[in-house]
Amino acid sequence: MGRASKDKRDIYYRKAKEEGWRARSAYKLLQIDEAFSLFAGAHHVVDLCAAPGSWSQVLSRKLYLPAIQNGRNPPKIVAVDLQPMAPIEGIIQLQGDITSEVTAQEVIGHFDGNPADLVISDGAPDVTGLHDMDEYIQAQLILAALTIVTHVLKPGGTFVAKVFRGREISLLYSQLKLFFSMVTIAKPKSSRNSSIESFVVCQNYRAPAGFHPAHLRSLLDNMTASYLTHPLPTLAQRQLVPFVACGDLSGWDADRSYDLPQEGPAQEESRPPFTGS
Ligand SMILES: C[S@@+](CC[C@H](N)C(=O)[O-])C[C@H]1O[C@@H](n2cnc3c(N)ncnc32)[C@H](O)[C@@H]1O
Repeated sequence: MGRASKDKRDIYYRKAKEEGWRARSAYKLLQIDEAFSLFAGAHHVVDLCAAPGSWSQVLSRKLYLPAIQNGRNPPKIVAVDLQPMAPIEGIIQLQGDITSEVTAQEVIGHFDGNPADLVISDGAPDVTGLHDMDEYIQAQLILAALTIVTHVLKPGGTFVAKVFRGREISLLYSQLKLFFSMVTIAKPKSSRNSSIESFVVCQNYRAPAGFHPAHLRSLLDNMTASYLTHPLPTLAQRQLVPFVACGDLSGWDADRSYDLPQEGPAQEESRPPFTGS
């Protein structure tokens, strides 16, 4: 089956087109929100690795537009990616590499004295196929995101990041537990079971005593293979982390292909109701 035809049979791809999302990833964030109420009380938000922008669209529709419609102060929402992104209402867009100090400072500058309630990161490197290299770059992205988190997130805030469940993942959970009292792995229904992608949902931010954000910055600047697998070796101990499957579990299956709708008058479809939004 060709790529285009495979995409059309993917129910989340089709629904994203119908509902005006730039990517099917929008449903992943919506389903994580269903399970964790990410947006309840959230005002200022950072969206890292945001292009083409479906997560930013979710933030715009869930936070910015309702605030404007109800005459409330608009939230500050900053999105950043290596790639340029078409404008989205209420989203401040930056183009840059989140692992670079310049970009990190640019993001941080927007939240000076105005900490963020939520930081989300859907960062993924272009896969090289070299497993260790891919894991290394993904770990760098998470470390870069965490560095920004330690500068902008308010105590008690939430951080969500894409992870690939590889060999060293339990060590990452332990490291995140140093910064957040609750760390959970979420697998939204719209994320294919065949993919090792998951999301860490880190709640209740509280930096460890004596920690300074510069500690992470220097790790990122001097990151070597040993830092990759053991970034904070003396502090972290392996932890068991809860796993939550989210989204309507009897709903659309991201691993299945669904028949395309027939031409002609609208047909009643024998499928579960769509609950991605
Ligand atoms: C899966 S896409 C994000 C999709 C996005 N959340 C959405 O809903 O449209 C991953 C993004 O990570 C970005 N990325 C990868 N490495 C990055 C880096 N070092 N700095 C900034 N963005 C990066 C890529 O450019 C790509 O746009």
